[in-house]
Amino acid sequence: RPRVLSGIQPTAGSFHLGNYLGAVRQWQQLQETHDAFYMVVDLHAITIPQDPATLRQSSRLAVAQLLAAGLDPERCTLFLQSHVPEHTQLAWVMNCLTGFGEASRMTQFKDKSAKQGAEGTTVGLFTYPILQVADILLYQADQVPVGEDQRQHVELTRDVAARFNHRFGESFTLPAPYILKDTAKIYDLQDPSSKMSKSASSEKGIVWLLDEPKKTAKKIKSAVTDTESEIRYDPEKKPGVSNLLSLCATLTGSTVADLEKSYEGKGYGALKTDLAEVVTEWVAPFRAKALEYLDDPAALDAVLARGAEKARAVAGETLARAYDRVGFLPPV
Ligand code: TYM
Repeated sequence: RPRVLSGIQPTAGSFHLGNYLGAVRQWQQLQETHDAFYMVVDLHAITIPQDPATLRQSSRLAVAQLLAAGLDPERCTLFLQSHVPEHTQLAWVMNCLTGFGEASRMTQFKDKSAKQGAEGTTVGLFTYPILQVADILLYQADQVPVGEDQRQHVELTRDVAARFNHRFGESFTLPAPYILKDTAKIYDLQDPSSKMSKSASSEKGIVWLLDEPKKTAKKIKSAVTDTESEIRYDPEKKPGVSNLLSLCATLTGSTVADLEKSYEGKGYGALKTDLAEVVTEWVAPFRAKALEYLDDPAALDAVLARGAEKARAVAGETLARAYDRVGFLPPV
């Protein structure tokens, strides 16, 4: 079985619709066909200041949501990044193989550091993509299911892996991004030229999966569209309507072309009402399940303990080989 690995930050508590459609939904599907490793990346989360109690709660909440989304600990390895020390250990080696200029070109770093300001930007935020390189290479992942915003980090991973292989001998699988075209980038409901984002979207622009379904329906109904009235897919000229159309297509399993046809002669209100219904029908049971899982923190911790054990078995082996290749003496 080919292997997949991916991660999601626990920050913000609730996942949003972009996280689900861009990534987590594919994770659920890939666990059936692939040897799948999925993690909650708490080490990545602290690149931006986090309150310790909130972080603890968010990590459990993230696991609860992944289970609610259909991840099955019997079918995949589900773990917390900080439980597997090999991530930071391999990251150091990869830090020493990554150029400063190369790391400086990461657009997520540029965006996030601009937001944090010079004083608020930590070295951790800068080396974050290199920790992600280690995340992926430790498991020899063939594919990495993510949204479009993570493509550059997967490309960096390929470059650094190829460099290691060239320097020290064939050691790492070069991973490919697994990005579905239709859901690669879900847009902000209020600002449909920007992606839906935990850190950048306004409250009204973002669909939080754990919000009251009623609140979500309201947000969808007040999504920004345009001054025309035709329901037509045209991301350039009609980004708002196009975003609603692709959301609707993805969630109902129909095509955008079919939707265009069925909404011929109808107004934006009809599309919004239908989409609000489709989203809440999905989100209401999801939310109920997630909150139920959250009610039993001991069970969540048990899932993570088992996941960490399985993850460490793989990660430990890769790390030992990498350390040896680099020239570190074994500790005996
Ligand atoms: P994170 O936590 O920001 O996002 C989790 C996943 O959601 C996707 N995503 C979106 N997809 C489509 N449209 C959107 N508007 C949207 N917003 C977010 C992201 O692309 C991502 O797949 N650095 C990563 C986490 C990570 C990771 C890894 C991923 C750490 N190590 C190793 C893969 C492999 C991140 O911050 O994702």
